[in-house]
Amino acid sequence: MNLRSLHRWPGLIVAALLIVTALSGAALSVFPALETLRTPQPETSLSLADLATRVQAAHPGIEQIKRAPSGQISAWWFEAGQPGSAIVDPSTGQAIAPAEPNPLQRWLTQLHRALFLGDGGRLATAAGALTLLFLSLSGSVLIARRTGGWRRWFSRLRGPLAARLHTEIARIVLPGLILSSATALWMAAETFDVITIDEPRLEAPAQISPRASLKPADMPALQAIPVATLRELSFPDPRDSTDVFTLKTDHGTGYVDQGTGTVLSWQQPSLLQSLSETIYMLHTGQGAAMLGLLLGIAALGASILAATGVLIWLAARNKRPALHGNAPAAQADTVVLVGSEGGSTWGFAATLANALRLAGHTVHIAAMSSFKPTRYRHAQRLLILTATYGDGDAPASAKGFLEQLDTMDSAPAAPLAVLGFGDRSFPAYCAFATAVEQAARAKGWATLLPLETIDRQSAQGFARWGQALGQAIGIPLTLSHQPASPATTTLTLIERRDYGQAVHAPMAILRFAIPASTPVQRLMGQGFARFEAGDWLGIVPEGSCVPRLYSLASGSTDGFIEIVVRKHEGGLASGQLTALQPGQTVRGFVRRNPDFHVGHDRAPLILIGAGTGLGPLAGFIRANTQQRPIHLFFGLRNPDSDFLYRKELSAWQAQGRLANLSTAISRADQARYVQDALRQEGPQIAQAIAQGAKIMVCGGRDMARGVAQALAEILQPTGLTPAMLKAGARYVEDIY
Ligand SMILES: Cc1cc2nc3c(=O)[nH]c(=O)nc-3n(C[C@H](O)[C@H](O)[C@H](O)COP(=O)(O)O)c2cc1C
Repeated sequence: MNLRSLHRWPGLIVAALLIVTALSGAALSVFPALETLRTPQPETSLSLADLATRVQAAHPGIEQIKRAPSGQISAWWFEAGQPGSAIVDPSTGQAIAPAEPNPLQRWLTQLHRALFLGDGGRLATAAGALTLLFLSLSGSVLIARRTGGWRRWFSRLRGPLAARLHTEIARIVLPGLILSSATALWMAAETFDVITIDEPRLEAPAQISPRASLKPADMPALQAIPVATLRELSFPDPRDSTDVFTLKTDHGTGYVDQGTGTVLSWQQPSLLQSLSETIYMLHTGQGAAMLGLLLGIAALGASILAATGVLIWLAARNKRPALHGNAPAAQADTVVLVGSEGGSTWGFAATLANALRLAGHTVHIAAMSSFKPTRYRHAQRLLILTATYGDGDAPASAKGFLEQLDTMDSAPAAPLAVLGFGDRSFPAYCAFATAVEQAARAKGWATLLPLETIDRQSAQGFARWGQALGQAIGIPLTLSHQPASPATTTLTLIERRDYGQAVHAPMAILRFAIPASTPVQRLMGQGFARFEAGDWLGIVPEGSCVPRLYSLASGSTDGFIEIVVRKHEGGLASGQLTALQPGQTVRGFVRRNPDFHVGHDRAPLILIGAGTGLGPLAGFIRANTQQRPIHLFFGLRNPDSDFLYRKELSAWQAQGRLANLSTAISRADQARYVQDALRQEGPQIAQAIAQGAKIMVCGGRDMARGVAQALAEILQPTGLTPAMLKAGARYVEDIY
């Protein structure tokens, strides 16, 4: 079992318990702060003698005075045959509020400590604390792995919202959770006598003076003690002249002679006792209200972690097929490691493993991030199947693999074959698989098969690789894989606008109605319940199960789904889409693309697109009701034919949603492309970028290359480079 599974299962099992204890803990954390705020604080120089005198004057039958860590003073007395108690004002000794704890606080404390279930509940919450401690520690290691090391703890995250939220919150609240859970465990150990703390045994006073009682004001022992260190003072029985005062302070416990007002015996707290008190304070925040509030915030964070943890698990469960018959790592002769984000590569890996098992092999499949060569004791070969994301980044299940390989002294003995899954329409085609192959070769890892790549989940390409693999290991291997298509929804076209016929680039802006979402989808912002311009609409065309992705030109708040599609010669999806008439339907799904969102800050935007690449950029401008400065560079062929969104763009300019529009027309007497328009306005662009502007590019690969070149030239005088801007996510591309 890898660390991720070890983190996941206990977390899921105790998620509900954690949510209850964390929320009740968060609510309880407010009380010490409230108590501190409400408590009248005594003058700093006030001595116990003065306090006792004031309280005794107000309540002559006084029996006990207590000071809470917040500084709150309470008194107990017996008068006219009746016991009484109150919180008292130290400046007058007068009662100001009842001494009983707040019933809500008591109720919450019982829930937090024992779930109202007595010792069984106490054991359950202790087990919860142990799990929380384990989850916090294993979670810390997982974060360090995900961010690429402890020093990069706060580096920028990518990936689906729930997973990012889980990590974002965790990296802030983990120290608090480690403190809370470790201190809770100590307190539970005390409750169940695993740790026993003996009360200091006070020696009986050897000699008590026979004199009548002094007034507290005249007692030297009480005069010497500042109220700030008091915990408890019990008065002697007034009818018994041999009785004594019992005094507890931060520094110890002792008896005070009522006749002489001097200390009779004194005992300092043991080390264990002081430690126990400190731990109690660290857990409850009593006496450290600010710390208490911080721990309360951490506890709130813990309940969100429990909830997002469950969501992540549900999402991963949907993506990753059940791996039936998966052999333990130590027994397998073939280890298959998977790098996947969307889940499809797991499907290919499962098909491969089944075929190998049929041929009599024992196969272990696992995520690349759980790579642990020391466990592959019987492995005769390792097979890595991995997708690529972004600019050649590792997919989610392969995070940390390269770093792990890098730390090893030598490569595993069993030879390796790497199979990359990618999409040729991305500039960094299978770049992560290539990086893995290169790192393996650099380590001297023996080759079973040279790197092979699969474009757009091609079943034929996979079958061909299977044949080569079979030959390499001496078995006939037939890999027939049917990629599972994502869950789709029927979308009805409500409007279409056609462009580009005259310039031989037929295009259409297609608008679909948003289909109804389930309540769960609405709650979790899934599916068509919530999407933004820049996300993708996946379309699964008739006659294929491989989806095509189109950048969305609208967000869910616009009330419709809009894409811009260009008809490609022989293109299955684009052919079907551009033939669609209002009222007709296609099947589609939403895929998030958080890297190509505009974000919520006010930094100026430089949007650059050509042809259908205008789609998401138009969506950004339409949504720009905040009038963030946007400069759009749009490349087209002929304004009379393919000027997409022409009317809207001038309306958005009039409304302040678009600050500047620069067009570049390629079929004119003097052909101009977007990169030419950029160069022409180079100094203004360089200035805007130096002031924090973000660049977003959408369109074909050649255009993107030309734009990158032009930007490099424009940026030269500023000392910035496109690569630097990309690293800071201030230059993002959506290229096809
Ligand atoms: C957001 C996104 C970014 C991608 N980036 C690349 C890329 O840079 N290079 C590449 O070859 N493929 C890229 N792809 C294609 C995926 O690697 C390919 O579809 C793969 O089969 C997905 O496998 P998975 O479902 O297991 O994650 C990208 C796909 C998406 C959705």
